[in-house]
Amino acid sequence: MGVDQADSIPSRTLIVLAAGEGKRMKSALPKVLHPLLGRTVLGHVLTAARQGLGADCQVMVVVGHGADQVRGHLAEIAPDARSVVQAEQRGTGHAVRMVTESVDDLRGSVVVVNGDFPLVRPATLVGLVEAHEAAGAAATILTAQVPNPSGMGRILRGATGAVQRIVEERDATADERAIREINAGAYVFDAASLRQMLGKLGSDNDQGEEYLTDVVGLLVADGYPVQAHQAVDPTEVLGCNDRAELAVLRAVLRDRINLEWMRSGVSIIDPATTWIDVTVTLGRDAVVEPNTHLRGATSVGEGAVVGPDTTIADSVVADGAVVVRAHVLGAEIGPQAQVGPYAYLRPDSRLAAKAKVGTFVETKKAEIGAGAKVPHLSYVGDATIGEGTNIGAATVFVNYDGVNKHRTTIGSHARTGADNMFVAPVSVGDGAYTAAGSIITRDVPAGALGVGRAPQRNVDDWVPRKRPGTASAEAAMAAKAVDGPEATVDSEVSHPATTSAEVGPRSDEE
Ligand code: UD1
Ligand code: CA
Repeated sequence: MGVDQADSIPSRTLIVLAAGEGKRMKSALPKVLHPLLGRTVLGHVLTAARQGLGADCQVMVVVGHGADQVRGHLAEIAPDARSVVQAEQRGTGHAVRMVTESVDDLRGSVVVVNGDFPLVRPATLVGLVEAHEAAGAAATILTAQVPNPSGMGRILRGATGAVQRIVEERDATADERAIREINAGAYVFDAASLRQMLGKLGSDNDQGEEYLTDVVGLLVADGYPVQAHQAVDPTEVLGCNDRAELAVLRAVLRDRINLEWMRSGVSIIDPATTWIDVTVTLGRDAVVEPNTHLRGATSVGEGAVVGPDTTIADSVVADGAVVVRAHVLGAEIGPQAQVGPYAYLRPDSRLAAKAKVGTFVETKKAEIGAGAKVPHLSYVGDATIGEGTNIGAATVFVNYDGVNKHRTTIGSHARTGADNMFVAPVSVGDGAYTAAGSIITRDVPAGALGVGRAPQRNVDDWVPRKRPGTASAEAAMAAKAVDGPEATVDSEVSHPATTSAEVGPRSDEE
């Protein structure tokens, strides 16, 4: 021990170019901050590069246009990255020069990547860096043979096939434009050679900019070894200069993600309409039905079924749960729980095992116990519902007094009636019932029946007297002629409710 190996290991620096505006996006958002299935464009590039280069490489990001927005984003996704400001966007070479001029101890391999080619795979960048370091080259360029090279820099090779230089499309001759090997926008340079050639860059080109790509020609002219490393999959080098290109990239990434999940044992019924963020995980034998969007920090457990027509963001769907035609945000759906069709689960909705949130139900900050059910037409906000409890149809947890939110607690194995209002703060004890149509404003003790509604009165013969000659009056008269005269005027129906029918529909009445 005691041997310091640090100096023998080539250090690596990653420079990400993200100062450009991306004019063709026509957006208030800098191009590199546009979202693409779970990360920003810049987030994808950074993630791939860091996975490819290892954790110990230093990361520098050149910012300029929308610098504050880009820095704010970096603070979230890569807090250890250093940003270097390029106040005026005078070209990719100028951008890299801003870094080399602000860092003294640059050595070893310097990996430069454009911030706008988000589909590059980590393994491709690993291959690029390894090829560079194995050859001891001064520069290694990531290239690709593409069907449509338009807009890209072309790779010019000599008679022996050695790389000569890169020419930008707008500076290229017709012959050069016919070349289909393009510069992807990722390079590895030896630090010292890079620093030397950046000092020699001119701006004598169509855009009047300092081109990083010109470093290649300068190195070759001085006899330095320069090589190209070809990406196998040309879709990795697709850039996104406008929103139409971004949509193309999104579809390519969607297909790539879906293919990986299908190969790992997930059934995706209609890959063309299934959009899964790169941040999502799915278990074996999960089924994703058509037109389903899985976003952010979402996980779907083994054998769970999600969709069709469902969006789930930042949520956990446990093993065997079923979520049909639902919109689910920041929720936890327990094992074998059921959601939907037509349910809206808002943040901090937590369904324990085998719980059910059914049709036209909205939940928020709601704990729904094991096997508990909210089957129909209800709003459940700021509520705790115990295990095995059934909430009647058309129930509202009245949580808001106009200023503050309050909580309702319902115990275990309770049966609440249809069309109840729980005016929070209020509680219903274990094993209690409430009558249909109740407005519950006071606590209901365990085992009690809570009845909170006006007694019913019937005003006999009101219709024939007050609406004579109507179809209703005729029907009433005909019925009375058959049944004979009725009981008292203004009779009261027996009270309190005691028949099970008054509690309302049960969850297992499908
Ligand atoms: C660049 C390459 C081109 C390559 C293509 C791949 C140059 C001169 N050309 O062209 O050979 O085929 O990428 O997509 O490098 N940026 C800055 N500061 C600047 C200018 C650009 O940070 O002053 C950043 C941009 O934000 C972007 C990246 O550099 O992330 C590339 O810039 P862009 O203008 O898109 O270059 P291209 O014309 O696409
Ligand atoms: Ca570009």
